Formats: sequence, C-alpha cells, structure tokens
Amino acid sequence: MRVDILTLFPDAVEAMMGASILGRARERGHLAIHCHQIRDYTANRQKQVDDYPYGGGLGMILQADPLYRCLQHVWKVAGRGHTILLSPQGALLRQDTARRFVTYPHLILVCGHYEGVDERFIEVCVQEEISIGDYVLTGGEIPAMALCDAVCRLVPGVLSDESSFTGESHWDGLLEYPQYTRPEFWQGRAAPPILLSGHHKNIQAWRRAQSEERTRLRRPDLWARYLEKRGQGG
Ligand SMILES: C[S@@+](CC[C@H](N)C(=O)[O-])C[C@H]1O[C@@H](n2cnc3c(N)ncnc32)[C@H](O)[C@@H]1O
Repeated sequence: MRVDILTLFPDAVEAMMGASILGRARERGHLAIHCHQIRDYTANRQKQVDDYPYGGGLGMILQADPLYRCLQHVWKVAGRGHTILLSPQGALLRQDTARRFVTYPHLILVCGHYEGVDERFIEVCVQEEISIGDYVLTGGEIPAMALCDAVCRLVPGVLSDESSFTGESHWDGLLEYPQYTRPEFWQGRAAPPILLSGHHKNIQAWRRAQSEERTRLRRPDLWARYLEKRGQGG
C-alpha cells in the first residue's frame, strides 16, 4: 500500500511514521509512506500558503492552489489515489473505516491547518472527509497519522500475525478483555488464576465473558450495536 501525506509539517509526520512497527514495515517494503511539504508548491517567493477568509472572520485559510499543485505532483509520481481530507467535519474514523481504507492500494491524506481549507479544493479534489473525534485540533497531522497507523497495521505482513488485530478491541464490535503479564503478584494483586491454569478453552471462555462485560459497562453504544448484530436487539 502507498500513502501520500500533504502537510505543512512533513518532518514531524515522517519522524513518527518512520518509527517502530510502521518504520520496520516500510524498510521491509510492505508500505510506502511519502510526506510532501505543501509550501514547496506555492507560486510566490514567500512560500505563503494561506490568506484571509472572504467575508471576514478570524484566522487564515489554506489556499486551494498550493494544495492542488502538491496533489498534481503526487498524481504525476504515483497516480490518482483515494483522497481524504482530515477534518473535524468529516465522518468519524472507526475500525470499519480503517478496514475499508486498507482495500485501497493508494491513499492521499490532506492535512488542513489554520481555520481550514478553501472549500473549492475540497469540492474538486477530495473524495471523503474524515474526523478522528468531536473536538478540534490545530492541524490535520495528528489525525492523518492516526488514520495512517490504523490502516497500515492492517496491511498483510505489517504485524507478524493477523490475529494480532482480529482479536483486538473494535474488530468484532467488542472491547478487548483485560491483559496481564509477569509478575504473578504486584502491589498485593494477583493475576487471575485462570490465566495461569494452562486450560486454553477455559481461558478463551473467560476472556470472551470479560470482553462482553467490559463492553456492556464501558460502551453501552457498542454493546447495543453488538446485540443488534447478533439478533438480540431490544
Ligand atoms: C483548527 S482546525 C479547523 C477547524 C474548522 N475551522 C472548523 O471549525 O471546522 C485546522 C485543521 O485541523 C484538522 N483537524 C482539526 N480537528 C480535527 C479532527 N477532529 N479530525 C480531523 N482533522 C482535524 C483539519 O485538517 C483542519 O482543517
């Protein structure tokens, strides 16, 4: 899979996307992630990418043209990928969104900044807008990295074993069960004895029950959806 990220802070994004699991997956050739400096595509000497909003108001707006030129560069070197603008006005990023995005061979992520992006760029170039939550950040870099990470870890070969993600929170609509590691006793608390029993079937049943209980208590919205899917709604 290839991901191109259009941003005013390519170094920050590159540093994060080059670390740990994604960094190793890139080295092994499972992923290609390219960050592009939007400022390099301005037509003015000051490399200005923003201007005042028509109609007045606070803040600056990212101009359509530098974004468009930057996108055209990506089209030239890598073709037209599925283009996503990170925006607090977009659809919420969920695990099933990540599962859909991993089916695209090429994603192009556009990071907004300032007060946002000229609407005409969105109309002409963006296929969908994605939000990482109902709050506002200063820029689209953290959302782009969150999206990129959530999608890229699903690319075959990035994690050592597919069950690393198919057993996790949100894959099948439930939260994951609690996890424990050594030592067996810590601060007067024992790890649940069943996990040390070696009885695989009982451990599986315990984990499933914990997972369901946790989801019911912590996320009634997910629990209701899960029951509905199992045909037990209402
Ligand atoms: C300060 S925000 C602009 C918010 C915009 N004025 C509004 O009210 O909808 C600047 C940029 O940060 C990014 N951003 C902020 N919050 C986000 C969120 N929750 N999800 C995705 N992107 C976000 C977007 O790229 C946005 O263009």
